[in-house]
Amino acid sequence: MKFFVDTASIPMIEKFMDMGVVDGVTTNPTHLSKEGVNPVEQAKRILELVKGPVSVEVIATDYATMVNEARAIAGLGSNAVVKIPMTHDGMHAVRTLSSEGIKTNVTLVFSATQALIAAKAGATYVSPFIGRLDDAGENGIALIGDVVQIFRNYAFETKVLVASVRHPIHVIEAAKMGADVATLPPDVLDKMFMHPLTDVGLKRFLDDWSKLSGKYGDVFRELGAQGAAKYEGHMAPKTKRAPQG
Ligand code: G3P
Repeated sequence: MKFFVDTASIPMIEKFMDMGVVDGVTTNPTHLSKEGVNPVEQAKRILELVKGPVSVEVIATDYATMVNEARAIAGLGSNAVVKIPMTHDGMHAVRTLSSEGIKTNVTLVFSATQALIAAKAGATYVSPFIGRLDDAGENGIALIGDVVQIFRNYAFETKVLVASVRHPIHVIEAAKMGADVATLPPDVLDKMFMHPLTDVGLKRFLDDWSKLSGKYGDVFRELGAQGAAKYEGHMAPKTKRAPQG
């Protein structure tokens, strides 16, 4: 399963990229508007920073303007994926863009029929919003199961990109169902690292270690100094990361 990070914040993207955890980025008009800078320039910065796919959404809602915006977004970087809303004009645009080799991510998908139509239009990704379905009293994760099964039944190449993820259980359930990608808000990604037993276990190891005194007390400090001397000036540079997994 690939992980994208769902944000337009460069520090957040860098944080997870430097750990090699994320394979791409999804933005939306809400994320880009929160950054308080020129959204096109911000999108360009993200496209340059990240090697994997970066979704940037059109603002237009009519076919012709949407296609114009999408072509321009695609021109911002070879890794650009154009997010298109799930509307009649949107699916017309997806058909045109896919025939031109432009990658698309159909957004605001809330039903299996919408996902099926997006796949038939030639979408590269389809993004069911599971958290917003849960918020509305529906079962978001069940929709992922349905879409994965339908795409498998008919061998659609469209990837299932799980969006509006609210917590780590969403990710695990979607992974068990075979979803291709989950796009994760930074706080959910952070939570995926954590377990209270890890903290308890680490504290216990360090407490035990601190009881070691005398001639063995500093052996690891000395080891660390040797490592620092050996690798001085060889810290990994911050570069574009290749997509993983
Ligand atoms: O970017 C699309 C989607 O992931 C937004 O999620 O949290 O606004 O429902 P959310």
